[in-house]
Amino acid sequence: MTELTDELMQVTDVKTKPVPTLPDAATVLEVHHWNDRLFSFKVERPQTLRFRSGEFVMIGLMNDPDPKTGKQKPLLRAYSIASPSWEEHLEFYSIKVPDGPLTSRLQHIEPGDQIILRPKPVGTLVVDALLPGKRLWFFATGTGIAPFASLMREPEVYEKYDEVILMHTCREVSELEYGRQLVEHIKSDEILSEIEQGKLRYYPTTTREEFHHMGRVTDNLSSGKVFEDLGIAPMNPETDRGMVCGNLAFNKDIMAILDGFGLREGANSEPKEYVVEKAFVD
Ligand SMILES: Cc1cc2nc3c(=O)[nH]c(=O)nc-3n(C[C@H](O)[C@H](O)[C@H](O)COP(=O)(O)OP(=O)(O)OC[C@H]3O[C@@H](n4cnc5c(N)ncnc54)[C@H](O)[C@@H]3O)c2cc1C
Ligand SMILES: NC(=O)c1ccc[n+]([C@@H]2O[C@H](COP(=O)([O-])OP(=O)(O)OC[C@H]3O[C@@H](n4cnc5c(N)ncnc54)[C@H](OP(=O)(O)O)[C@@H]3O)[C@@H](O)[C@H]2O)c1
Repeated sequence: MTELTDELMQVTDVKTKPVPTLPDAATVLEVHHWNDRLFSFKVERPQTLRFRSGEFVMIGLMNDPDPKTGKQKPLLRAYSIASPSWEEHLEFYSIKVPDGPLTSRLQHIEPGDQIILRPKPVGTLVVDALLPGKRLWFFATGTGIAPFASLMREPEVYEKYDEVILMHTCREVSELEYGRQLVEHIKSDEILSEIEQGKLRYYPTTTREEFHHMGRVTDNLSSGKVFEDLGIAPMNPETDRGMVCGNLAFNKDIMAILDGFGLREGANSEPKEYVVEKAFVD
C-alpha cells in the first residue's frame, strides 16, 4: 500500500512539474492570414512590457537542434509592434518569406503556441522624435505599415496633430487589406473613433494592380497629386512632420523628397521634422 502511494505521489509529482517553456515566451492568441504572403497575429502581453507606440522588438522561435551538440538557439528577427501602447495584447503584422529562416516557420503558428519575445522595445518612429507640428504623415510600403498600425491608435498622436495622413503603397490590392480594415475599424469603433476625432486620412495606392488610386508614394508626392487629391497645401517644414517605413530604396527616395520640402531627419536624441526606419533588411 505504502509502495503504491509512493508511486502515485511520484506520478503526481511528474504531472505537476512545470512544462518547459521558451525563454521570454509569449502565448499566441489569434492568427489571421491576409493572403499567401501576409499574416497578422496577437500574443499575450507580458505584464512588465512597456513600449512607446511605433517601437519594435525582437521576436522569434527556437531553431532546430544543432545536429552535433543537440543544443537549440533562438532564431530572432526585428518586428514592429502593430498594436498601440495601451492595448492589453501585442499584435504583429508579418510577411511570409518562402525560404525565410523565421517566417517559413512562423507563418504556421496557431493559438496556444508560444513564440519568443525579447522585452526590449526600441525604435525611432515615435512621437517624441519629432518637433511639434500640425500635420503628421505616415509613409509606408508593404509591411512598413506595422508601426503606423500602432501609432494610428495612439491618443497622443491625435492630441498633438490636427491631421494625420497615412500613405500606404503595395504592389497588389490584397496587400492593402490589413490597413484598409484597420482604418475602417478605427473610424467605426466607439472608443477608437473618439481617440481619432475624425483626424485620420487614408491614401492607399497600388503599383502593379488596377486600383482607384495608383502610383508610388514618392511619385504622388513629387508630382503633387496627393495634395490635389486630398485638397491640402503642399508640405511645409513649419507645419508638416513625417514618419517613413519601407524598403531601403523607398526610404532613401522619400528622404530626398522630404529634404526637398525643407524637412530634416530627426532622432530620439534630436527631434526634427521627420524620422525613418527600415521595414526590413534587403
Ligand atoms: C526595424 C525592423 C522592423 C521590422 N518589422 C517587421 C514587421 O513588422 N513585419 C515584418 O513582416 N517584418 C519586419 N521586419 C523584417 C523582419 O525582421 C524579418 O526580416 C522578416 O520577418 C523575415 O524573416 P525571415 O527570417 O523569414 O527572412 P530574412 O532572412 O530575415 O529575410 C529574407 C529576405 O526576405 C525579404 N524580406 C524580409 N522581411 C520582409 C518584409 N517585411 N517585407 C518584404 N520583404 C521582406 C528581404 O528581401 C530579405 O532579404 C523588420 C525589420 C527591421 C529591421
Ligand atoms: N508583393 C508581391 O506580390 C510579391 C510577390 C512575390 C515576391 N515578392 C518579393 O518580396 C520582396 C518584397 O516585396 P514587397 O512587394 O513586399 O515590397 P517592395 O518590393 O518594397 O514593394 C512594395 C511597394 O513599394 C514600392 N516601392 C519599391 N521601391 C520603391 C521606391 N524606391 N520608391 C517608391 N516606391 C517603391 C513598390 O512599387 P513598385 O511595384 O513600383 O516597385 C511597391 O508598391 C521582393 O523581393 C519581391 O520580389 C513580392
